[in-house]
Amino acid sequence: MKPDTAENRLIVPLDVDSLADANRIVAQLFNCVRMFKVGKQLFTAAGPPAVKRLIEEKKDVFLDLKFHDIANTVAGAVASATKIGAEMINMHASGGLQMMRAAKETAERIASELDIPPPTLLGVTILTSIDEAAFQRDFGTSRKLRDQVAYLAELSQTAGLNGVVASPLEIGRVREVCGGDFVIVTPGVRPKWARRGDQRRIMTPVEAIAEGADYIVVGRPITASNRPREAANAIIGEIKQAEEG
Ligand code: C5P
Repeated sequence: MKPDTAENRLIVPLDVDSLADANRIVAQLFNCVRMFKVGKQLFTAAGPPAVKRLIEEKKDVFLDLKFHDIANTVAGAVASATKIGAEMINMHASGGLQMMRAAKETAERIASELDIPPPTLLGVTILTSIDEAAFQRDFGTSRKLRDQVAYLAELSQTAGLNGVVASPLEIGRVREVCGGDFVIVTPGVRPKWARRGDQRRIMTPVEAIAEGADYIVVGRPITASNRPREAANAIIGEIKQAEEG
């Protein structure tokens, strides 16, 4: 559930639309990266074989489909995700306590039937693409975004989820509210030597790990690099540096 080595704290997203492209990235990073993220783009294009292929290669899969629906439907989706072997699965915490509890119960039941460890279940709080002004306008609230993130993180924990996906700027607040055992997965991470791309609220790997992230998701600085393996190893080096303090 919690990563045991610096290598295992790096998650690389396969943000491509074909199995062939995904396989190419995995082959390039085969010896240095343990967990890959399969999101809506690849899963919609290639389906469960994208996950199964990674599992056959002994890789861990974060299935980033951000489920959000009635409890029965999300429980069914989590059952399917557990059956195909996803190690990490997420859902929108705003789907509510009943939905998250149903997901948790189902994941544990299916894992026990299959005699496999239950997947790590994560809540998605407020998407990092939404800023304070958009949050208050679009959600019709005067609440502060950080307070809503902390509230939804706590709700995820109450439902029995293992952790949340949180932007680097929210790690400290989530740790404060949910404690040290709660898993925090952080995208929006950019090494100093990489382009920011469209990510805005960013931190470096060293900063994100020092703030308390368990896992960091780093995509384009690795996958768009001419030397992806060197880029991944440099980031793993930064994680080690942060661990040594
Ligand atoms: O290439 P880059 O490092 O920006 O990729 C980050 C990955 O994390 C993408 O797959 C993106 O969809 C995902 N993500 C994110 N921010 C969130 C949640 C997921 O950037 N709040």
